[in-house]
Amino acid sequence: MARQVRYASDMPIMGLGTYGRRGREGQAAIEAGLEIGYRHLDTAQDYLTEEENGAALRASGLQRDEVFVTTKVRTGNLGPGKVVPSVRESLDTIGIDKLDLVLIHWPSPNGEIPLPVYVEQLAEVSALGLSRHVGVSNFTIALIDEARDILGDVPIYTNQVEVHPYLQNRKLVAHCHSLGISVTAYQPLAHGSVAEDAVLTEIGRAHGAGADQVSLAFLMQMGLSTIPSSARKERMVRNFVAQEITLTDTEMARIATLDRGWRRIDPAWGPDWD
Ligand SMILES: NC(=O)c1ccc[n+]([C@@H]2O[C@H](COP(=O)([O-])OP(=O)(O)OC[C@H]3O[C@@H](n4cnc5c(N)ncnc54)[C@H](OP(=O)(O)O)[C@@H]3O)[C@@H](O)[C@H]2O)c1
Repeated sequence: MARQVRYASDMPIMGLGTYGRRGREGQAAIEAGLEIGYRHLDTAQDYLTEEENGAALRASGLQRDEVFVTTKVRTGNLGPGKVVPSVRESLDTIGIDKLDLVLIHWPSPNGEIPLPVYVEQLAEVSALGLSRHVGVSNFTIALIDEARDILGDVPIYTNQVEVHPYLQNRKLVAHCHSLGISVTAYQPLAHGSVAEDAVLTEIGRAHGAGADQVSLAFLMQMGLSTIPSSARKERMVRNFVAQEITLTDTEMARIATLDRGWRRIDPAWGPDWD
């Protein structure tokens, strides 16, 4: 039976990451996620899982407006005149009329394409009604500020970035929040590495929970949305029910000390992180 969904504005606080969920097995895993209660699917042109997301959505029997769907524009589609057609293609691939959220997946590597070129096209995606919201991913404070100036009154809905107990990204999070931009934490389990953490494990004992679940609860209590992913149903359930955990201030403060600036996704061509 579907569990209760918590929302951050109109986006569920916890979504399902769908990187790697390809083919029939991938589709089945996304369907399992929807059955568990996930109501936000996070895909990307680069993941090649847009089709599986659309198929799972249709197979679920849920109404389109019950599920928040995010995709991301790949780097190869950032050039002049490319963003809007690529979003139309994503809509076709997923099999829906409108997205809930379209993100620029990464700022153009080494700044090869000037930021205004693709951010202006993101505003066009919004103006054309191809997506209810637009936003960015892997943007730094400086890039957020530059994008805001270009977008004018089109709000940046979220900045999707790596955040977990070992990389808490507090300066960037505070900056986004001060501007009313939500932050979505990707790799919230540091790709599974937090599951063995001794401090998180100890804190979890008081809540009848595991270190993995404490990590997710910590992020949500920091005011972030998050999109953990798993191919396994039992883990999808564990992750989802982490929404029910409330950590004390002391526990939050203790987890804050685990930050070691450990960035897992750090391509050489990426931006100058804050
Ligand atoms: N915007 C971006 O640039 C960007 C970058 C990376 C990721 N993302 C998004 O964020 C989503 C999540 O990131 P991610 O998948 O890289 O990392 P993650 O959610 O932190 O970790 C997933 C990994 O941890 C394992 N895992 C899942 N639940 C677990 C649990 N409860 N206990 C222990 N291990 C667990 C999974 O293995 P099993 O599958 O075997 O369970 C998988 O190997 C992606 O699917 C994608 O949608 C976005």
